Amino acid sequence: RVSKEAGHDARDTPAHQAAADEAPLHEATVSAPVNIAVIKYWGKRDSKLILPTNSSLSVTLSQDHLRTRTTVRAAAEFSSDRLWLNGVEEDVAASARLCNVIATARQLRAAMEQADSTAPRLSTWGLHVCSENNFPTAAGLASSASGYAALVSALGALFELPQSATELSRVARVGSGSACRSMLGGFVAWQAGTMDDGSDSLAEQVAARAHWPQLQALVLVVSDRKKTVSSTAGMQTTVSTSPLFAERVRSVVPHRMAAMRAAIVARDFATFATLAMQDSNQFHAVCQDTFPPIAYMNDTSHAITSLVHAFNAAVGRVAAAYTYDAGPNAVLFVLRDDMRALVQLLTRCFPRPAAMSADAFYADPFAVFASPDL
Ligand code: ADP
Ligand code: DP6
Ligand code: CO
Repeated sequence: RVSKEAGHDARDTPAHQAAADEAPLHEATVSAPVNIAVIKYWGKRDSKLILPTNSSLSVTLSQDHLRTRTTVRAAAEFSSDRLWLNGVEEDVAASARLCNVIATARQLRAAMEQADSTAPRLSTWGLHVCSENNFPTAAGLASSASGYAALVSALGALFELPQSATELSRVARVGSGSACRSMLGGFVAWQAGTMDDGSDSLAEQVAARAHWPQLQALVLVVSDRKKTVSSTAGMQTTVSTSPLFAERVRSVVPHRMAAMRAAIVARDFATFATLAMQDSNQFHAVCQDTFPPIAYMNDTSHAITSLVHAFNAAVGRVAAAYTYDAGPNAVLFVLRDDMRALVQLLTRCFPRPAAMSADAFYADPFAVFASPDL
């Protein structure tokens, strides 16, 4: 029996302490952020290794509002790998992605154990994983990105892996493509790569967050419902049916990647914002061109798009940008000096809780945007 009274916890007894010293708990807890692509990944050339048809570029948000927290524990007596997502057990064996991620991390650990005979043989033990997202899962807010990044980071910590974040991004990639970008902060490019084994398909930082502190993101939760077409299924249908998609990969994305990188380096908001909006629009056009068509955006999403264009017209410059992933929820980008005016307009047009739930706005300051005036 375990008493909850302070000082009476069985774990406080000297006997337990001694046992714990002999058998340390092999456990790690790590949290990871979401990232929002401004040049979208959509399409795979290899669906097992998750190799993309095109490079992509994203902004990693702070963990102040949206994050996954994952705990991994290894024990010799765990007979199988188990994972609980938001309190509900998932079937690990039935998920090729979870199996691939765990197997790849174990291989890296096994290589360490071979080099060091004193290292505990964690690579041969079972794993129990507990993961929680503090925002809607599978709703187009990049839960697969923060989810697999958190899992890989937690395994990296548990196994004490020496690999860098960029090297580990390859492991996150086999869980979910977008997850490789959440392994790094700031502005991140996922190079599509050309190798068949995926060794050059990884995430690299384009610029640190501190490079552009004025840039802010605002997450507008239009719906927290699970999407009806997963990103994985949607992009597969796109690759096999959309002629517009083939044209995007061939003639649009390469130029946009270079232009977006340059805009970030130069802190050129108007170019950054214009490219982000155009790329989001083309991604959703490609979804419409998919057969049967996929509609991730809804009427509220389209109303937000119009409002951003009206805002930019009213101020006479490109002061705000929208982008939508595979779901109806919007992420807006705005410079800090324009945040107040934009939020005032949004709250006037979408009075809560009519259009959105009470916590529907997440201002992502990356730093210091004060939310009381939301
Ligand atoms: P999203 O737009 O949220 O990324 P996806 O369709 O890409 O939606 O992926 C959603 C799936 O990602 C979930 O159904 C689940 O399988 C996986 N996922 C989400 N969060 C986690 C997590 N914390 N740990 C492991 N897997 C997760
Ligand atoms: C629209 O990374 O979720 O968010 O690799 O199949 O897990 P899988 O798909 P996922 O796709 C993300 C698509 C996107 C654009 C992006 O994040 O680049
Ligand atoms: Co996803």
